[in-house]
Amino acid sequence: MFTTGLLSFLAAASLARADDITATVNLAVSRGSPYHWASGFIYGIPDTPDQVPDHWYTDMGFRYARAGGAQLDAPDRGWIWGLDEYYGRLNSTLSNYETSRKYGAAFILLPHDIWGTDHANSSTVWPGDDDDWTNYDLFVHTLMSDLKSNNALEGLVWDIWNEPDGTSFWARSQQQWIDLYIRTNNILREDSDFDNVLISGPTLANMPQDTDTWWTNWLSQIAGNDTVPDQYAYHLEGSPDDWIDDLQNTNITLAALLKTYGLPERQININEYATLAEQIPAGAAWWISRLERYDAYGLRGNWQSDCVLHDLFANLLTKTSDPTACADTDYVGAPEYQVYKYYNLNMTGERLNTTGTGDRLMDVYATVDSDKVRILCGARITEGTWQITVDNMDAVGLPSEGTVDIQTWGFAGTSVWEEVDAPSDRGIVSHTYTGNSLTFPIYQTDTSTAWAFEFAR
Ligand SMILES: *[C@@H]1O[C@H](CO)[C@@H](O)[C@H](O)[C@H]1NC(C)=O
Ligand SMILES: *[C@@H]1O[C@H](CO)[C@@H](O)[C@H](O)[C@H]1NC(C)=O
Ligand SMILES: *[C@@H]1O[C@H](CO)[C@@H](O)[C@H](O)[C@H]1NC(C)=O
Ligand SMILES: *[C@@H]1O[C@H](CO)[C@@H](O)[C@H](O)[C@H]1NC(C)=O
Ligand SMILES: *[C@@H]1O[C@H](CO)[C@@H](O)[C@H](O)[C@H]1NC(C)=O
Ligand SMILES: *[C@@H]1O[C@H](CO)[C@@H](O)[C@H](O)[C@H]1NC(C)=O
Repeated sequence: MFTTGLLSFLAAASLARADDITATVNLAVSRGSPYHWASGFIYGIPDTPDQVPDHWYTDMGFRYARAGGAQLDAPDRGWIWGLDEYYGRLNSTLSNYETSRKYGAAFILLPHDIWGTDHANSSTVWPGDDDDWTNYDLFVHTLMSDLKSNNALEGLVWDIWNEPDGTSFWARSQQQWIDLYIRTNNILREDSDFDNVLISGPTLANMPQDTDTWWTNWLSQIAGNDTVPDQYAYHLEGSPDDWIDDLQNTNITLAALLKTYGLPERQININEYATLAEQIPAGAAWWISRLERYDAYGLRGNWQSDCVLHDLFANLLTKTSDPTACADTDYVGAPEYQVYKYYNLNMTGERLNTTGTGDRLMDVYATVDSDKVRILCGARITEGTWQITVDNMDAVGLPSEGTVDIQTWGFAGTSVWEEVDAPSDRGIVSHTYTGNSLTFPIYQTDTSTAWAFEFAR
């Protein structure tokens, strides 16, 4: 809950170092046009075309999708069950691809799902078993040829293999996966029709660090084989208590690793972000702020199963009656949908440079347009007291001291199944400032509500 009260604020502030509790917005430093880097999600698109009305895609600024027919049952279990079952998964994938392209979103292909890893185990066949790649090569060439004949190459990213470092999607050695990675890269790059198809990897579940041999051995061998991906992809879905699973840390650890192996920088794609517990408005605002700061694409993790995996935009949507009734079309916004909608439709103009709080628990994304400054703010699903400092007030034509009226919007909701139709108006409070810098407190008394603050310029 956002309130003001100078005395209680000073008492709270004295408990923590100012930089630990202060997020900043610099009105004098523009970071270019809004691009809604965080407006992606994995799966979440119904396989039936047009099942979700257009406005749900367009209002949230849908930018990135990622799918491959996962969790469909027989007769759609994937390549290892025969060509018909492969086509079942491919059809789901192509349908999701068409839907994504309809709204201009890029599409990340998940070959491991078309292979059928969710119906596999250590006894089933895996690419390169017994050093025989015939079957895998045929799979890759068949998939390439089907993508080509279905005109599905534009806006496509080939994500070579998902989470080989987990037990769910890979049941063979680390080296067999690295061999697969390099081999696939080479097959794709030998076909000029695929010149504009991007390659992403390593798509490891764990963050980049120099003690993780999945990262270090992969980096070393892709350097040695000149098979650098177009996007470095990995997942940030660790517990929020584990602060290292955070772009603020991994942007540094990855840069250090690239330097060690003499590799170039590339676009970052966090193609799964946030835990299910973080899929509430405060978590959404925190992740948006982080991804925007690092200009990293982000796709929301999807924590649903079976047909619900193929619906509900990774829990941005819910339904008025039964959200798990996958064919029903009574769609409404889940709590976070309103955050993404505000982020896309309202936060127009130019992005501003920001910093998160030193304790890494609260963060802000900010824009300035011809009418207003807008600040989206979220805590990493925890209560606490923080503050926002807005520097260089005169950069947007305001006096260096004076009073601004701050309009607050609250984005409430505690469950991904709950319907929330709009942010709520939490009123206008006047704040006096001096020294060209405005500071106001955030009293976060629940773990779920995100905030937007607006003031006229
Ligand atoms: C896949 O879609 C094609 C074209 O719509 C159709 O002919 C084919 O029967 C489908 N295959 C499967 C296995 O669903
Ligand atoms: C592995 O999967 C195959 C095919 O579904 C199944 O027949 C077999 O029982 C599974 N083995 C184990 C150990 O689960
Ligand atoms: C190239 O990749 C292969 C694996 O496919 C690996 O065995 C080899 O060590 C790599 N070469 C270099 C120079 O890293
Ligand atoms: C992220 O790391 C790259 C180096 O890989 C660096 O150029 C960039 O400035 C870093 N971003 C931020 C916001 O610190
Ligand atoms: C966001 O923008 C829309 C369209 O301009 C407007 O109708 C709506 O009131 C704005 N919402 C907020 C919370 O400012
Ligand atoms: C922008 O913010 C980043 C971190 O959030 C900071 O490292 C950088 O110095 C800031 N840039 C400017 C020009 O203020």
